[in-house]
Amino acid sequence: MSNILRGSRVKRSSKRANDFISSIGFDLPIAKHVVAINMAHMLALSRSKEVTPAVASACLAFLDSLPRDVELDPETEDVHHAVEQQAVRAIGIETAGFLNFGKSRNDQVATAIRMQARVRLLDLGAALARVQEAIILQMRRHKAAIMPGYTHLQHAQPVTLAHHLQAYFDALQRDVARVEEAYSCVNKSPMGAAALAGTSVRVDREYVAALLGFDGLVENAMDAVSSRDFALQSASAAAIAMVNLSRLAEELILWSSIEFGFVELGDEYSATSSIMPQKKNPVVAETIRAKCGSVIGGLTSMLAIAKALPNSYNLDLQEVTPHLWRALDDATESASLMAEMLSSARFDEDALQRSLSTDMSTATELANHLVVKYHVPFRQAHAIVGELVRSALERKAPLEATAAEQMAKVSTRITGKPVKIDKHEFQSVLDALKTLKLIRSAGGSNPLSVSRLLLKDAKSAEQNSSWLAAARCALGQADERLQKQVRANKNEVRT
Ligand code: ARG
Repeated sequence: MSNILRGSRVKRSSKRANDFISSIGFDLPIAKHVVAINMAHMLALSRSKEVTPAVASACLAFLDSLPRDVELDPETEDVHHAVEQQAVRAIGIETAGFLNFGKSRNDQVATAIRMQARVRLLDLGAALARVQEAIILQMRRHKAAIMPGYTHLQHAQPVTLAHHLQAYFDALQRDVARVEEAYSCVNKSPMGAAALAGTSVRVDREYVAALLGFDGLVENAMDAVSSRDFALQSASAAAIAMVNLSRLAEELILWSSIEFGFVELGDEYSATSSIMPQKKNPVVAETIRAKCGSVIGGLTSMLAIAKALPNSYNLDLQEVTPHLWRALDDATESASLMAEMLSSARFDEDALQRSLSTDMSTATELANHLVVKYHVPFRQAHAIVGELVRSALERKAPLEATAAEQMAKVSTRITGKPVKIDKHEFQSVLDALKTLKLIRSAGGSNPLSVSRLLLKDAKSAEQNSSWLAAARCALGQADERLQKQVRANKNEVRT
């Protein structure tokens, strides 16, 4: 049979050009949605009596007979063409010829991409939520573990491991929220927009949207077929989540090195060297770090393709879609593996604490102490402590050992008045755990406030799961309703 889509307007065809413009090679992810859309559209046509019951029931019976993983004829231009052509072959043009009455590939493809994006966004949200669960697990396991906190990758102030990990929890919470927001933007139906102008055919857009599980319409028909900002938003959510995951991956890579020795990653997430038998390489974390680059690249490609496209549908849009699937797949797989790897990671609390022993990272609290107890202006307290640190380093001695004897001299030089502090006071002020307990600001590294926020985190994690479950359930129910209506309708004429 000749290509039904070529109609009569264009006569000659070039195999090379056809292959070049075909999306059949990457349409598989939307194939089952295209079938569902055809079903919903036919139900709408039948309801408004735009087609006869016989046509509707024949078309619906055909669509219902297709396997869930539809086979796509590689010779067709795209999945829309493939399904229609298969229908014409199977039930004849007298009936299948009405499938595309009042709809276009333009509204159909935008709808199908949205349907698949919904599923993939929920997968991404669930994978991110699993990373959050892994973080909660490790926070509970290591509530009291203290470690250096870094700025500029230099020891800055003591923190707890739980506080450090909680920072990632919070970032992931925003990632999940971004996925949720992208979902609500995606979850609107373009069907009924037809090619660009809407249609004179009576298709109840609301009815079709409800059958396909959407919670509203993309109202303007031109917008419905031209815009891919929902895809850009979804890929952005994936890219930003990947940036966060790549940061965590980077820290796990650094922390598993001999220099840090803070963590040991599971063998399942590591590889060895083909030549150096002692090697344990953090290959999964490295790959997550790299995939972040691919996702950013995908998003950049999508933005570049979509920019400056005039209204309404342009075939350029076809090139956007594979980048979206790849970005969502990479992000979901990265998050899933991060969740597994992090749950099984073994943190070494002694190594974390040991690395604090000579780093003088409690110096800030010593400066605060000079302000609070001795009324030294902070800027001068900062200068005094800086000098004490420098001199301890020069003498290769611990700060508490040299500070007691030098304090009076240094403080006099800087403020004109001597401050006298004995060794015991120094020891107590410079104790890492004590400095943590002094932290009063909300969200700080005080173990008490971290534990308090942990309770909130656990609640947020629960809310994430219930949102994800509810959205998935709504999609499942819509699909069931659609199938039910199809079965009721296809049997109507026969019985
Ligand atoms: N394969 C196309 C896509 O993915 C479907 C829409 C084609 N529409 C058209 N008017 N050529 O975007």
